[in-house]
Amino acid sequence: MGRQRIFSGVQPTGNLHLGNYLGAIRNWVEIQSQFDNFFCVVDLHAITVPHKPETLAQDTYAIAALYLACGIDLEYSTIFIQSHVSAHSELTWLLNCITPLNWLEDMIQFKEKALKQGENVGVGLLDYPVLMASDILLYQTDKVPVGEDQKQHLELTRDIVNRFNHFFAKPDQRVLKLPEPMIRQEGARVMSLTDGTKKMSKSDPSEMSRINLLDPPDEIAKKIKRCKTDPIRGLEFDNPERPESNNLLTLHMLLSGKTKEEVATECQEMGWGQFKPLLTDTVIEALKPIQDKYQAVMNDKSYLESVLRHGKHKAEAIANQTLTQVKAAMGYSMPL
Ligand code: AMP
Ligand code: TRP
Repeated sequence: MGRQRIFSGVQPTGNLHLGNYLGAIRNWVEIQSQFDNFFCVVDLHAITVPHKPETLAQDTYAIAALYLACGIDLEYSTIFIQSHVSAHSELTWLLNCITPLNWLEDMIQFKEKALKQGENVGVGLLDYPVLMASDILLYQTDKVPVGEDQKQHLELTRDIVNRFNHFFAKPDQRVLKLPEPMIRQEGARVMSLTDGTKKMSKSDPSEMSRINLLDPPDEIAKKIKRCKTDPIRGLEFDNPERPESNNLLTLHMLLSGKTKEEVATECQEMGWGQFKPLLTDTVIEALKPIQDKYQAVMNDKSYLESVLRHGKHKAEAIANQTLTQVKAAMGYSMPL
């Protein structure tokens, strides 16, 4: 038996922040050698809210470069761009037609984003989870490593598989594989620097709410200096009354590589004035190798292009196979 397959992706909208890194990419890097991995830059998802055509291509390349900079290894993993493999759009159409409208209307992320968009909600925003299901299902994926916020979309993906197989698969022939979410406890939900009860997000209007992977050291220092704290001396994990304390200690723990016990002991007597410089050093030190590697990759455009060209071919071969099986199961004639 071959290795189990992993699929995951990030949207090229804005900079990657510590939530994306700790909730998703860092976990991909840690487990990649045990799986056959596909990591996609989901640029079709990026246009489900208003986007800038002038920067879309550049932002897409930047995310691919960050995958490499964070340690995605081409020996185990394939990196590619969603819009380069047309099967993603085509499977979305087919699955749209078997997905009940009310399943999509119930998605938390849709409701939240629709509220933010006001009048300007495109059909694509509602359809976002079907495109995500198509991403996953084209590769006969076993496991999908994501942050906690994507759990509901994974459940929907599983519902679509069951519905598809119920309508169209013969009992002895599986067309779509049922994928499992893979959500790590620690880092699954990195919170905003300005409000420990809200998740760190690319779409928060305030830059001060997040630390981006490419922030220079002085910017990191400034954000941590101004971040929200509480008036209590001594830091602790897991006190629901102190979300900022839990969040910042968790960041320190994950980025320093120390255990929870070590960090709890190290910081239990500390005031915020002592902890903040410590956290600043930890973050700057953890991000430096990523930033250096990112610069090196971005300075070698032809290398990045060759990675993405190779990724497209590898992804396309598998995706087209699944698409053909889906169309056959739905009763389509094959192209002549
Ligand atoms: P997105 O930024 O929406 O493209 O998300 C890319 C990946 O990062 C997904 O796996 C998300 O679950 C994860 N993610 C985004 N924000 C956070 C956060 N604040 N904490 C943990 N994971 C996150
Ligand atoms: N919706 C995911 C997010 O915002 C991104 C994504 C798109 C994704 N397609 C995917 C994640 C497939 C995992 C698998 O985080």
